[in-house]
Amino acid sequence: MRVAVIGAGTMGGGIAQVAAMAGHGVRLFDTDPARAGAARTAMRGSLEKLHGKGRLGDDLPDDVLDRVAPAGSIAAACDAADVVIETVVELIEVKQEVFRQIAEAAPAGALFGTNTSQLSITRIGSVLGDGADRLVGMHFFNPPVLMRLVELVAGLGTSEETIARAEAFARGLGKETVVCRKDSPGFMTSRVSAIVRLECLKMVEEGVGSPADIDKALRLGLNFPMGPLELGDFNGLDTYLHALEALEVAHGERFRPTVTLRNLVAAGRLGRKTGRGVYRYGPDGAKLDDGTPAG
Ligand SMILES: NC(=O)c1ccc[n+]([C@@H]2O[C@H](COP(=O)([O-])OP(=O)(O)OC[C@H]3O[C@@H](n4cnc5c(N)ncnc54)[C@H](O)[C@@H]3O)[C@@H](O)[C@H]2O)c1
Repeated sequence: MRVAVIGAGTMGGGIAQVAAMAGHGVRLFDTDPARAGAARTAMRGSLEKLHGKGRLGDDLPDDVLDRVAPAGSIAAACDAADVVIETVVELIEVKQEVFRQIAEAAPAGALFGTNTSQLSITRIGSVLGDGADRLVGMHFFNPPVLMRLVELVAGLGTSEETIARAEAFARGLGKETVVCRKDSPGFMTSRVSAIVRLECLKMVEEGVGSPADIDKALRLGLNFPMGPLELGDFNGLDTYLHALEALEVAHGERFRPTVTLRNLVAAGRLGRKTGRGVYRYGPDGAKLDDGTPAG
């Protein structure tokens, strides 16, 4: 199949890689050429690691990379695509504008997926008119190469055929699926992870413990694979802030972002992608401190 991925940030490169590893031809577009370049570098590193572990089958890293072509525009990426996955910044207006352009360029039968973590699929699809039946939430997790779930989300207009196609596509990528049949902000996963991380940030602000100890407590005491604060840095604090703002509108005050989170984002401390978030990171990605977000 031909897959277009729109947005090459934290998630887009990984989704492109997963699709290419499954044998699909991928075209990847980002408005920021630097992000597209960085995505390719990250893909190479990941593919070399996977190859070293014998997890690429008969493919060499270059075979997979050769299946991912950069595109110069949304129209070029979507031309002749069977599946289009949008994974741009978590802002409704931006996603709607991107889908206007996708709808103009993609073939009539193409399946549309949005990787939003919590926005309304129905609202994103409202710009598609009758074509909203072919849009489905296709929520991958970070990093897409390792995380096993794709959470599918039906908007009000999403057809059963679209859900079935998305399930088949995701399973073809080697993923498990769940279907969120009610288009409720935050779906099944993001509203839980958002509130857990928020509680951790509140504990930091209240001085209950250091970020490192809070993360350690949840890892070792509650069996979280990663502490919520380190995971927030990994996923991007700006993305998290956008998500909380939308969840607050949808579900109320309990999702209100903390002042510290707003300050971190205002200061450009967005997590691993900028070298500093709750924690500070070295050039090799190693954590350099115990986390001092108020400092
Ligand atoms: N980061 C995560 O852990 C995670 C997990 C699951 C889902 N998501 C969702 O995935 C989406 C992307 O998140 P991310 O973390 O990759 O964000 P990111 O900020 O790392 O990347 C977003 C990319 O979109 C690009 N972009 C912005 N406007 C564009 C446009 N009009 N056309 C093409 N590209 C454009 C930006 O240049 C940037 O490279 C969001 O909807 C987010 O909620 C993120």
